[in-house]
Amino acid sequence: MSGPYLHGHHASVLRSHSWRTVENSCPHLLPYLNNPSLKVLDVGCGPGTITVDLASRVPQGFVLGIDPSANVIQKARKHAEEKGITNVQFEVGDIFNWKHVDGTVAGGFDVVHAHQVLQHLQDPLGAMKELKNLTKQGGIVAVRDVDYSAMNWYPDHPGMQKWQDLYLAVAKSIKSDPNIGKRLHAVAMQAGFERKDIEASVAAWTFSTPEEREFWCGLWADRTVKSDYKDRVLDSGLGTKADLEEIAETFREMEKKEDGWFAVINGQVICHNRAS
Ligand SMILES: C[S@@+](CC[C@H](N)C(=O)[O-])C[C@H]1O[C@@H](n2cnc3c(N)ncnc32)[C@H](O)[C@@H]1O
Repeated sequence: MSGPYLHGHHASVLRSHSWRTVENSCPHLLPYLNNPSLKVLDVGCGPGTITVDLASRVPQGFVLGIDPSANVIQKARKHAEEKGITNVQFEVGDIFNWKHVDGTVAGGFDVVHAHQVLQHLQDPLGAMKELKNLTKQGGIVAVRDVDYSAMNWYPDHPGMQKWQDLYLAVAKSIKSDPNIGKRLHAVAMQAGFERKDIEASVAAWTFSTPEEREFWCGLWADRTVKSDYKDRVLDSGLGTKADLEEIAETFREMEKKEDGWFAVINGQVICHNRAS
């Protein structure tokens, strides 16, 4: 089952997604990209910066990015064009209801990748099963998601705790799991991967230099009051306009703190699809 994407694709959200590369977002996948002919599927590819980077690393291979948002798929195509990368294709598609134009591609990909997608789904287990089905025997499923409860920051600020509590409540109110990063390996086991075939690790994004703080705090200040997230908060009744403004102001204050520090903790898994 798929629901509307909590954040939507406002410019403040895309600013965060478009910063992403294989290096800063898929360190777990890097050791598996040493074959230039790989066929890769990037599920929930968003504006496609990771997807295009993946394609540049498999020049004799092929990368397909899918996302249910036609708007963001258009942006991804434009990004590939600007980068001059031609072994990549983007299609509007939902992991729960997706057939490639050439027919089904079950079992067709060497690597099936999903970055920061499962946390937004109401049925992450169903999605993991689909990711597995799309992977060749001998191929891998690579998934990474944040654990919002494990995020941390310095210095303390009451507005930051308010932000975290509200975000967790809103995400849970739409039956998604903002903490799924810590149990991706368990979801993979429920989807049929054996524990011995799953590599589970953790990698953090750190935002601490003035430029990093400007990026992270700036985009959260903006998305709190401008993106679809704002509407979700208000519609759910879990927060008010005044709460959102207070949180946005908190991020602006945190951005200015010279000793400010933010840790975003991501759980990541590589699941080997062994012959059964
Ligand atoms: C947090 S963004 C991540 C985008 C990209 N993977 C990245 O890391 O930059 C989550 C993306 O998942 C997409 N998405 C939501 N539901 C989906 C579904 N059922 N199937 C595929 N993608 C989905 C959203 O449209 C959104 O672009």
